[in-house]
Amino acid sequence: MSKVEFTRISSCRVDLGYSTRVIKRKAFWYQKWAQSDQLEPLFKEIDVILRRQSLDGERSFKAYLQCMGGATVAKQSDLNTVPPSELFERVRRTFPNSFPLDEELVIKDSEAFWRICRLIKRIFIESGQVDILGYGYEYFFADLFKGKTGKYFTPRTVVDFCIKLACIRESDVVCDPTCGSGGFLARIRSREASTSKTNWLVGNDIDPILTRAASLNISLSGLHDFKMYNDDVFDLRSSFHKENDGQIDAVLANPPFSLMISDRSILGQYQWPNESRRVTSDQLFMESMMHLLKPGGRLITVLPHSIIANSENTRFREWLSKQWVELATISLPEGLFYPFGESAARACIVSLQLRGPVSKDHLVMKAAVESVGYDLKAKSFKPISQNDFQRILGTEEFALYRKQLNTGLLVNWLEA
Ligand SMILES: C[S@@+](CC[C@H](N)C(=O)[O-])C[C@H]1O[C@@H](n2cnc3c(N)ncnc32)[C@H](O)[C@@H]1O
Repeated sequence: MSKVEFTRISSCRVDLGYSTRVIKRKAFWYQKWAQSDQLEPLFKEIDVILRRQSLDGERSFKAYLQCMGGATVAKQSDLNTVPPSELFERVRRTFPNSFPLDEELVIKDSEAFWRICRLIKRIFIESGQVDILGYGYEYFFADLFKGKTGKYFTPRTVVDFCIKLACIRESDVVCDPTCGSGGFLARIRSREASTSKTNWLVGNDIDPILTRAASLNISLSGLHDFKMYNDDVFDLRSSFHKENDGQIDAVLANPPFSLMISDRSILGQYQWPNESRRVTSDQLFMESMMHLLKPGGRLITVLPHSIIANSENTRFREWLSKQWVELATISLPEGLFYPFGESAARACIVSLQLRGPVSKDHLVMKAAVESVGYDLKAKSFKPISQNDFQRILGTEEFALYRKQLNTGLLVNWLEA
């Protein structure tokens, strides 16, 4: 039975091929709270109340965000006495980045507003406050963002695994350049790093409502000093790039998949491949990250499986191998995004390090994942106990991967 395998790569050659061996299924409990039966009825009840408000999808999402703010700033006893408009003023003062001054309270019916706030408060308490926004997004709003400029939710089991792969250190500045609801950034705080440093998290998304949602999500995780941008990640002239290029130690991301980009003013900023009229966003994304990261910086990203597997990307992979050192490649099963908008996109996770002038031999972790902690055939999110990510994290190979990063075989290779 093979689990995760290593390939020794001499002189840091990248092959980006992936192992066909499959990790054997094994039941275990992961993210116990997400699977606990008591939360599902609470989410369902919120869903019923939101549906009764006759709101379109976007206003419904805003209403959910406003109630999350309300649940955070209100005491239990406020939630049938203090007028919602007054509570919302408090919310606005507490989270100015998420609720602009001109935004109005979406739910006019006080009882409905209080009830949703009370339910969210209970979810906060019962779940230990982990990324409620993400789970709400997952339960109610997958349809809202379905297919729109690659707005697919990143499953939280994938997010948590990527955070482990990133091996974040105290001094790292971490960025998600297409942060959506902010899953990566909100979950890093509680899981990997504790530091007194400010502004060590940087987020960006092209959609303004998602940047506001992400800001709220990160604030609720307990972090208030972070930078959030509302820019096009492919435009190297944007404030996001201007203020952060060459400053980032680790990028964690799930960029939009395979959008065709034909805007000459964007394509003209890129080396790859400068003679083409249309380039996929996946390819531009990799070059955009080369600008963002410091030399030796790490990129842990979800990508379309075609990037590592299809022959039409061979030339691109060769070009990539000149710029990056491969640290890990994990292929993911079909149906990964199916419960979040019924997307059929096949994906993988790659962990890469931006090349510096000196490189050394190192090991590359390769794995294929079958079970991701939820049902891949269900139209909505249904947690299951099988989760190969947890299994990989328990292997000796993963311990070695981590050690390589931490002991400096790769991390300090610029000084070698
Ligand atoms: C797969 S989603 C990321 C989901 C996110 N990780 C989460 O958990 O919510 C891709 C994100 O890329 C954003 N996006 C699409 N085109 C973009 C662009 N040109 N610049 C910045 N963000 C973009 C979308 O708005 C979307 O939120």
